[in-house]
Amino acid sequence: MKGVILAGGLGTRLYPLTKVTNKHLLPVYDKPMIYYPIQTLINAGIDDILIVTGGNNAGDFLRLLGNGKEFGLKHINYTYQQGEGGIAEALGLAEFFAAGESVCVVLGDNIIEKNIRRAAEAFRKQKEGAKILLKEVSDPYRFGVAELKGDRIVRIEEKPKEPKSNYAVIGIYFYDHTVFDFIKTLKPSERGELEITDVNNRYIEKGAMTYDILEGWWTDAGTFESLLRANQLVAQTGANKVS
Ligand code: G1P
Repeated sequence: MKGVILAGGLGTRLYPLTKVTNKHLLPVYDKPMIYYPIQTLINAGIDDILIVTGGNNAGDFLRLLGNGKEFGLKHINYTYQQGEGGIAEALGLAEFFAAGESVCVVLGDNIIEKNIRRAAEAFRKQKEGAKILLKEVSDPYRFGVAELKGDRIVRIEEKPKEPKSNYAVIGIYFYDHTVFDFIKTLKPSERGELEITDVNNRYIEKGAMTYDILEGWWTDAGTFESLLRANQLVAQTGANKVS
């Protein structure tokens, strides 16, 4: 399984912090944000990694990370997303890199306390379809929200006004190689982006989606409130714990 970190976008919700740099290069406690999703993949045993960047400061990722020596990597792959076409469009750029293999996709602003080793192992055995991770939150309307029936997900709604559960779909996803065919059939949403939630709903409709509940805390860091929260959580308890 290969790893894809989506670190493009213009970070408009964090303006002016993102006027002269990319959101994923901003500090979260003692490290640049992008360090956390890289460690998430490495802790899951995934070391063939593509970073999809974008915006005006893409070169800074190379200056910061190089070939990933600090993480014990020999090589990091990079590609570039023009503009703000959405998470699913960014993932579409990983097709050549994936080369027919499954992928674990991590949004560059998602930080976790523990690790996803169990889910990654389960998806390796699952072989086909997709797997997502859910986390109970108090503000589900900010996220993709899963509607659950028994132990099945019946649908995901993106930022619903009246959420059908408190389970947010976190920004860590496992997909088989058919994800790239799904992406090609997507139409832009009202916010003009190709939505990852539409991709996930395709897998659900096919009966090919499984899920796990994430252990430990999870946060995104794409707004002032969540960036502050991410800093506090990492400072208080640390992130990317192996056991
Ligand atoms: C994105 C996804 C959403 C998911 C969230 C996790 O939202 O669209 O489904 O719950 O990431 O961080 P965004 O942060 O792009 O608004």
